[in-house]
Amino acid sequence: MKHLLSLESLPATDMAEILALTQTLKATRGHHTEHPLRHQCWGLIFSKSSTRTRVSFEVGIRELGGDVLFLSTNDIQLGRGEPIKDTARVMGRMLHGAVIRTFAQSDVEDFARYSNIPTINALTDDEHPCQILADLFTIQEKLGTYEGKTITFIGDGACNVPASWIWAASKLNFNLRIAAPKAFQPAPELIARAGGNLVVTDDIRAAAEGADVLYTDVWVSMGMEKETEYRLAQLGGYQINSDLLKLAAPGALAMHCLPAYRGKEITDEVMESQAETIFAEAENRLHVQKAVLTWLSK
Ligand code: CP
Ligand code: NVA
Repeated sequence: MKHLLSLESLPATDMAEILALTQTLKATRGHHTEHPLRHQCWGLIFSKSSTRTRVSFEVGIRELGGDVLFLSTNDIQLGRGEPIKDTARVMGRMLHGAVIRTFAQSDVEDFARYSNIPTINALTDDEHPCQILADLFTIQEKLGTYEGKTITFIGDGACNVPASWIWAASKLNFNLRIAAPKAFQPAPELIARAGGNLVVTDDIRAAAEGADVLYTDVWVSMGMEKETEYRLAQLGGYQINSDLLKLAAPGALAMHCLPAYRGKEITDEVMESQAETIFAEAENRLHVQKAVLTWLSK
């Protein structure tokens, strides 16, 4: 039984297989000859908001021949305290696969263990693996390859998105820099576990210098709303703007997993001048989700 629970647990060969499948599925959208999810019903179990991830999985599952149920945890007994392992054992007897967005990474892992159906991490507090696969695919499309490139993450370096970047960098051949204030740098245990190919600094200009990609994410991740004031004050200088982009390599990309808060982690000017890249990145979520689903069904 295959799952996609994290990039930590996904071997580089599987990442490469998913990216190659993405290319084929994107090129053949609308006239697929194989429908690997035919006669299947998948569940999307979400306890956090979502636009891109929800829509890309719902559309992707249908395009692969399957049916899908969106299950907000507000509406199912999980939200009233039914244990994850009981929910998983029930769902596993009815659904053919599950896509889960939640807080604790252990909940996704427990769901996979107890349900015995293919399970996908659609974002936890620890990782956002599907996002980084779509980002790598977008970099390949726009720059020809991610190999040998320098990708600089700017902002909250301690959240799920940079964590998945750290795991990707530990397995693939590109350079990762993370620019964040000390209080928002990745945990030393995570860096030690991932083991290298990473520069962490609070010097945003040095991190941007000569980079091929400047990447950012929200300053206030879902679940962190109580810290909003503190985060805005601490992360205030860690913004992608036109001046910073000038320090990057000629033709550098600005990327954002979205949703974006203009005037905070990125300016409106950069969002609009880089809209082709940023919204291709969002579209690629669909193509990657279909590749992940196809890979899981093999
Ligand atoms: N980037 C991303 O996961 O977007 P959503 O939260 O809208 O799904
Ligand atoms: N770090 C963000 C990612 C949103 C797609 C969050 O967890 O809210």
